[in-house]
Amino acid sequence: MIAPVAPAPLAPAVETVAANPWVSLAYLVAGVCFILALRGLSSPTTSQRGNRFGMIGMAIAVVTTLVTHLPAGEGAAPRMLPDMSTMGEILAAIGLGALIGITTARRIAMTAMPQLVAAFHSLVGLAAVAVACAAFLNPVAFDIADMVVPMIGQPFASIHVVSRVEMALGVAIGAITFSGSVIAFLKLNGNMGGKPILLPGRHALNLGILGAIVILVAMFTRDQAPWIFWTITILSFAIGFLLIVPIGGADMPVVVSMLNSYSGWAAAAMGFTLHNGAMIITGALVGSSGAILSYIMCRAMNRSFISVIAGGFGASDAGSASGGAAVDRPWKRGSAEDAAFLMSQAEQVVIVPGYGMAVAQAQHVLREMGDLLKKEGVRVKYAIHPVAGRMPGHMNVLLAEANVPYDEVFELEDINAEFAQTDVAFVIGANDVTNPAAKTDKSSPIYGMPVLDVEKAKTVLFIKRSMGGVGYAGVDNELFYRDNTMMLLADAKKMVEEIVKALG
Ligand code: TAP
Repeated sequence: MIAPVAPAPLAPAVETVAANPWVSLAYLVAGVCFILALRGLSSPTTSQRGNRFGMIGMAIAVVTTLVTHLPAGEGAAPRMLPDMSTMGEILAAIGLGALIGITTARRIAMTAMPQLVAAFHSLVGLAAVAVACAAFLNPVAFDIADMVVPMIGQPFASIHVVSRVEMALGVAIGAITFSGSVIAFLKLNGNMGGKPILLPGRHALNLGILGAIVILVAMFTRDQAPWIFWTITILSFAIGFLLIVPIGGADMPVVVSMLNSYSGWAAAAMGFTLHNGAMIITGALVGSSGAILSYIMCRAMNRSFISVIAGGFGASDAGSASGGAAVDRPWKRGSAEDAAFLMSQAEQVVIVPGYGMAVAQAQHVLREMGDLLKKEGVRVKYAIHPVAGRMPGHMNVLLAEANVPYDEVFELEDINAEFAQTDVAFVIGANDVTNPAAKTDKSSPIYGMPVLDVEKAKTVLFIKRSMGGVGYAGVDNELFYRDNTMMLLADAKKMVEEIVKALG
């Protein structure tokens, strides 16, 4: 028999802070800034403004959180105040975090961005686990429990049922995000092989663990026994690992975007536990935008969205490196001078950048080449495939960095019909995104992926380093051997520099 007693003395304090209309207003403004940030990030022309909105929103959210913990003035109820002795530690942590963030942002290479993002997501997941654990261990401090005095035994804090659900979901999603992101980081960073690791009976194992987590969450709503909470935590860490390990390197960026979404939901769950509206809004924004991005990426890469979120369900080795390059077929080799001549005679040249341009960092000299061609009266356009490179918007970012005018840059669906009227398609370090096997060869790992129809141009120039090298999907591109194709074998930056010299 237990008898409930009055709520814990801390409860009114938290309610007062949460109910403060100025706090709610500030969080609302921060939420609007985050929405404007996402809106701005949808186009390269507005992305800087979007970033600024994001920074302003985050500054408002952080300052509001700190200020609501400061004395409200003379006579303010002391119990509303946080322990000011921790303020120094909080500010030191913010300073240290900012220093690490600034240093990393300055040093990181564009090609290493996916693994950096994965590393950041792992921290969000870990933070969600930490908050859930703290709330479980001291629920009264979080205002999510009532003190209960049983007839026999010690008084204890009975966590509200709603909070138990939030806490269990927060710790589960957070732990999955953490261990999944760590595996994604290791794979993307090359510390772990990119090939799928397919454990025997993995589907049954994954389903069994997921089922066990669901049952334990349901049990936790009725009984807040520590063993249930800690078992949920351990099983969630395990399932995060098991879900990501079978996924091959080619699908990893989709996984990172999916983990981004999970980290958003974990943050939203934390927001409920902490009574923090800004975190709920931000978490939901990150969660839903990450899910939408993953869906778009899956469609662009012809991968099943369900199979990716379910952790490589249906994954097989076929997607990773089937069919290498066939180098024994005849092909035509050209020089920088040939390329310069062909392009200077053209009415329209469409440039197709891919991962190789990013590796060679050829974007600046490429823009120079475009400028020279325009001076010769050639119409120059850039065609961007949604998954060219290794992360969403990879090519847009590099071209923007090189100051390529936005009105010369076209997405796949807007430019594809133009290749038939194009004199030269200049493909620089792109392979899979131009491979017609995606349209015709059902056995190809890229079958079904929409591709740029470069073969319809009168002449196709391909820059790559060797005939033996393959793209991400590991398959040969039969365009290399066509009559209207000329191969320019060299590092992309060196080759374009030579073309610029020949044009000049
Ligand atoms: P890839 O198909 O990966 O082809 C890259 C090409 O660049 C290769 O032909 C390579 O040949 C060449 N290359 C590499 N370094 C070079 C250098 N320094 N100079 C000149 N050429 C160089 O690239 P893509 O066409 O951009 O396609 C992207 C692929 O990545 C797709 O399969 C896509 O599904 C996958 N993917 C993309 C994303 C996102 S979100 N963008 C995410 C996951 C996976 P050599 O080695 O012979 O030079």
